[in-house]
Amino acid sequence: MNKDILKVLIGEEEIEAIVSDIASRIDRDYADLNGKLVLVAILKGSVVFMGDLMKKVTLPVEIDFMKVSSYGSGTKSTGNINIHLDLQRHDIDQCNILIVEDIIDSGKTLSHLVHYLKLKGAKSVKTCTLLDKPSRREVDFEADYVGCQIPDEFVVGYGLDFDEKYRALPYIGILKPEAYAN
Ligand code: PRP
Repeated sequence: MNKDILKVLIGEEEIEAIVSDIASRIDRDYADLNGKLVLVAILKGSVVFMGDLMKKVTLPVEIDFMKVSSYGSGTKSTGNINIHLDLQRHDIDQCNILIVEDIIDSGKTLSHLVHYLKLKGAKSVKTCTLLDKPSRREVDFEADYVGCQIPDEFVVGYGLDFDEKYRALPYIGILKPEAYAN
């Protein structure tokens, strides 16, 4: 185990079972789809989850990527997001978009993004997250697919970082406080 990890919160086998379960629910829910199913991963944290999820979904899928950040991180929400990388598609009205996230915290990123993609004309927009921290929510938002609800711990691995480190760990671990204290 990495020396900066206090404990493994979700191990590799458990992650695989969670991802398989989400994939089979997606297969079932989108079976009679009208249009395309497009998995849109939000960079960077969701890339590992996206890579595993897209292999387990058996329906035909297209993939795409966005990079966004919510702003108004102080006491006030501005009700908006910064879009650093947008979808470059001319067929958005034929796309059933399923946003793929690694974690929901305040809920601002996904709630704004769903609104934005609907305004852009997507046929449908749903959301999927591997991890959810409901105790951190600042806006009223629930994802359509949630892998695992977790307590408010500093988690890294399987795509999640602290200061760009630990994304490549194959499990979700709780970071030792001394690893982020200075
Ligand atoms: C994380 C995560 C979500 C967002 C969730 O991304 O991947 O996009 O924060 O937070 P919210 O619910 O409070 O809006 P982050 O900004 O850490 O970027 P990264 O994925 O590149 O690490």
